[in-house]
Amino acid sequence: METPLEFSHESVVVRRGRRSRLPIVVAVHSTALGRAVGGCRMWAYDSWEDGLRDALRLSEGMTRKCAAAGLPNGGGKSVVVLPAGRSLTPDERRAALHDLGDIVAELGGTYVTGPDAGTGPADMAVIGERTEYVFCRPEAAGGSGDPSPFTALGVVAALRSTCLALFGSPGLAGRRFAVIGLGHVGEQIARQLAAAGADLVLSDVDPVKRSLGAELGAVFTEPDAAATAEVDVLVPAALGGLLTRDLVGRLRCRAVAGAANNQLADPGVAESLRERGILWAPDYIANAGGVVNAVSREVLGDDAEKAVRRIESIADTLTGLFETAAREGITTARAADDLARRRLAASVPTAPGP
Ligand code: PHE
Repeated sequence: METPLEFSHESVVVRRGRRSRLPIVVAVHSTALGRAVGGCRMWAYDSWEDGLRDALRLSEGMTRKCAAAGLPNGGGKSVVVLPAGRSLTPDERRAALHDLGDIVAELGGTYVTGPDAGTGPADMAVIGERTEYVFCRPEAAGGSGDPSPFTALGVVAALRSTCLALFGSPGLAGRRFAVIGLGHVGEQIARQLAAAGADLVLSDVDPVKRSLGAELGAVFTEPDAAATAEVDVLVPAALGGLLTRDLVGRLRCRAVAGAANNQLADPGVAESLRERGILWAPDYIANAGGVVNAVSREVLGDDAEKAVRRIESIADTLTGLFETAAREGITTARAADDLARRRLAASVPTAPGP
């Protein structure tokens, strides 16, 4: 593991938006494999430094995610730090998106942005007024649209591999899952699991989501109760850091596999999970479906079917990692990091093209 003092990013821009006056961070972690890609998070943090820290961690995760998924891209991320306690007016939102678009344009193609927590395809169209380096504009505007159904598809593929590793069969029917976080991605995971005949415990900090529980015939409960529910697989689909050492000691699931980025509160938690015999699907392997779809459709020129095949190959990648980890007596986190590192080491350093 790297020491916290080691600065491994290629470049980081921190700027107060000219129009919005909001702190905006664009972190380019690596372009070793190609242009850095990573979504734009619009979120309220306690401070701009917290937003910076999030961008640094998330962009590094994108480097691993793209490398492990076999994409010709590096990792980046941007964060627009929202004012605490209020949402932006439509004009303020536009201003912030244009400010971000200007930074992305200045980076000249080393970084391509996309949606993340707090942004969606309509926002990407607004960023697109300032730069061409933006994924996931609405389909009507020439983009690949909302990535969340594809992220969900990849997570469900990962859940099948997880069940295969636990039970010797990938079937989801009758298996019990707790999904924490019912945003764009979490809701679709819950719907797909319900359609496959799974038993569900659902949870979200927003009580409005209780109605989804009722609709899907699921138990709806508080996040902590859901996290420690007796289930086959815990599915984190909210923001990062769910898996603390304390929580791992209280888990009653056999595996954890979900959509959230940066699920481990600290890297040592991977070992705690292994010691407890809880199988962990590394987050950036399981949740790569969204970025895989965007790159597949918008860069590689694949049709929809080919993109879906690429997303579904997450299942095989994960099965391979589970096998490697078991064979070598290492954590699945380590197995995934080794895979990403091998892909990065094999790269021929080139400057991103025009
Ligand atoms: N938010 C996505 C993720 O964390 C990143 C993404 C970038 C998705 C670009 C689509 C396009 O993986």
